[in-house]
Amino acid sequence: MGVLRNVIVPAVFLAVLSLQVTCEPRSYDGYKVIRIKVNSEDDVRFLRTLQTSNGQLDFWDFPSDLMVPTDQADTIESQLVSQGLKFDVWIHDVQKLIDGQFTKSPKDGFNAAGARIQSTDPHYFDYEIYHRWAEIDQWVKNTAAKYPTLAEEFIIGRSYEKRAMRALKVGVDTGNEKWGAWYNGGIHAREWVSPATVMWMTNQFLEDYKNNVTEVVTLLETFDLYVLPVMNPDGYEYTWTDERLWRKTRSINLGSNCMGTDPNRNFAYEWGGIGASADPCSIVFRGPYPHSEIEIKDVTDFIRERGKTQKFKLYIDFHSYSQLWLSSWGYTYDLPDDYETMYDQMTVGCEAIKSVHNKTYVYGAGSSVLYATAGSSKDWGYGVMGVPYSYTVELRDTGEYGFVLPEDQILPTCQEMYAGLKAALQFNIDNPYP
Ligand SMILES: *[C@@H]1O[C@H](CO)[C@@H](O)[C@H](O)[C@H]1NC(C)=O
Ligand SMILES: *[C@@H]1O[C@H](CO)[C@@H](O)[C@H](O)[C@H]1NC(C)=O
Ligand SMILES: [Zn+2]
Repeated sequence: MGVLRNVIVPAVFLAVLSLQVTCEPRSYDGYKVIRIKVNSEDDVRFLRTLQTSNGQLDFWDFPSDLMVPTDQADTIESQLVSQGLKFDVWIHDVQKLIDGQFTKSPKDGFNAAGARIQSTDPHYFDYEIYHRWAEIDQWVKNTAAKYPTLAEEFIIGRSYEKRAMRALKVGVDTGNEKWGAWYNGGIHAREWVSPATVMWMTNQFLEDYKNNVTEVVTLLETFDLYVLPVMNPDGYEYTWTDERLWRKTRSINLGSNCMGTDPNRNFAYEWGGIGASADPCSIVFRGPYPHSEIEIKDVTDFIRERGKTQKFKLYIDFHSYSQLWLSSWGYTYDLPDDYETMYDQMTVGCEAIKSVHNKTYVYGAGSSVLYATAGSSKDWGYGVMGVPYSYTVELRDTGEYGFVLPEDQILPTCQEMYAGLKAALQFNIDNPYP
């Protein structure tokens, strides 16, 4: 672990040490992803029970997309058939997708241990490839150094495995009171396009400001952006070294051999309700108690503290995949009081997204568009922090590659989302309520 963590060390050094690394990453050879045709609430209840009773079951997108390990295919498929559920094989071999994800990385870009050989030039960063955690951490530092008057780095806390939660504050110091806006990626470890998008968009704000793009000048004079590229750094790094499709944190669960909590079920708002599991082996394990995960505790403490002096207007937690823009509530099918305004903002955001590459993002309240989930970030942002515009955004795609989006789709994903994010921020200026 210690060896692979720091990928900035010279490649020769790594190649020597890598002899100690004995574990191959987990293979997903022959794993399928099936798409289930869900017709009724009864089907959803059945699948929810299946999910909570079989902790190992990995719904890529509940309740429709389910990953089926080779040796469990017969059991799982007969359970579905007995409920009368129909399904298609959507992805035939998950390992093949994983082997094909680095479409833009140079072929000689990795050493024998699978660590990327990164340019040592601090001013160079390739936004169109996926990066190890240490490279992302270095990107935060380099960005702050490159734009000293616009960007400031700070550490929110340390992860369970003691990685720095290094973030950026981006904005123009006008001497006036400014609004806050928070966005992060990487709360779910395997959703690699979300940190990539968060970094690209942040860099683009800075570049556009430097180039005097009027719209962006106004935004950075109105907002301070608080940006955390990887909210679950331990899980993210684990997806590079051990299991590409790991989702949770990497904390030890007392009394269980299964590790990790679903950080997006760990927030202290309606914690433990529908869509979350009490089973530490489940990929939607809520954790032993709210904010049990140090990453969630530190980020929520930071926003709450900062929120005492600065009004936060926007909070977006970037995920993949499904192309969705989701508001509160997640935990209930009831609509929140501010839903009409949220809806208008989501409309503006998704229209801006579509205008770039003609991709459709579906939007609405999380519980009705996707599925009910208790203890999620957006409900905490709205319910506890009172940030009216508090969202989960699911980036590309709609399931062709799912979490294993090839690198050649990073740039278009970033470009369209940047349009959506700018539109959402501008909406707050045009509609100061509430
Ligand atoms: C930036 O743009 C504004 C409005 O378009 C213009 O008035 C101003 O002179 C420009 N500043 C620079 C440094 O180019
Ligand atoms: C945009 O996508 C829609 C399908 O969502 C398609 O019908 C339409 O032709 C596309 N438009 C362009 C300009 O490609
Ligand atoms: Zn996610």
